[in-house]
Amino acid sequence: MALKGIILAGGLGSRLSPCTLVTNKHLLPVYDQPMIHYPIRTLLKAGIEDILIVTGGHFAGDFLKLLKNGNSFGLKHMNYTYQEGEGGIAAALSLAEHFVAGDKMCVILGDNIIEGNIRDAAQDFESQKSGAKILLKEVEDPTRFGVAEIKEGKIVRIIEKPKSPPSNMAVTGIYFYDASVFNFINTLKPSQRGELEITDVNNMYLERGDLTHSELKGWWTDAGTFESLRKASNLVAETGANKDFI
Ligand code: DAU
Repeated sequence: MALKGIILAGGLGSRLSPCTLVTNKHLLPVYDQPMIHYPIRTLLKAGIEDILIVTGGHFAGDFLKLLKNGNSFGLKHMNYTYQEGEGGIAAALSLAEHFVAGDKMCVILGDNIIEGNIRDAAQDFESQKSGAKILLKEVEDPTRFGVAEIKEGKIVRIIEKPKSPPSNMAVTGIYFYDASVFNFINTLKPSQRGELEITDVNNMYLERGDLTHSELKGWWTDAGTFESLRKASNLVAETGANKDFI
């Protein structure tokens, strides 16, 4: 059974204000494509075609204008749902419970762009009996991300935006979960920044001994700040994204 695909494209994108006063962050251009095109391709390249986009804010309707039923990607149907407010990544994911209907899933943040593909990781997760899988990538600025503390090759803890990072291994915004993720989300309490944190969910899987990881090959970037948006555009222009050969 193929994985379900969920793209989280809610939030207010306030770090990209004033651009996000007139459009949704994920519709802004990254080089020659709207940002949302990249995570869609990441899922399609992994063979995931049953896709739900979770969005929100004032410009949610613009996703329909752009993507319709995903015909330009060769899809017959695209699913959408709406997040009220910006309660966090895990809050956005909780809206996918009905769509997922007990299956396993790949979740990708709408501002995450990769050079290569996640086909191998998706296949590995399909044969993983239960639990979750995360993808790590070495970065120069770990304080901006969820960071894995690793001992003897094993993740012992994930810390969200640590002031003193225990490693340079960022947790990318590409996650594989079984349907028990929704039970975990139901027990979450908002963090100091008032959000339901996906890092807390990953730590719950870790405590249960049911979290695997692998390292993402090729470059990875988010595009949620002007600096990372510029970097993302440059990387795409220079080398292309969502390539087969990595
Ligand atoms: O990019 C990877 C990082 O993404 C991880 O390393 C962190 O652990 C994870 O918390 C996240 O960090 P950010 O602070 O960069 O996430 P941000 O708030 O920018 O949200 C990323 C995407 O998630 C955003 O483009 C859309 C989606 N989102 C976010 C929020 C807060 C939603 O769909 N709804 C939301 O309420």
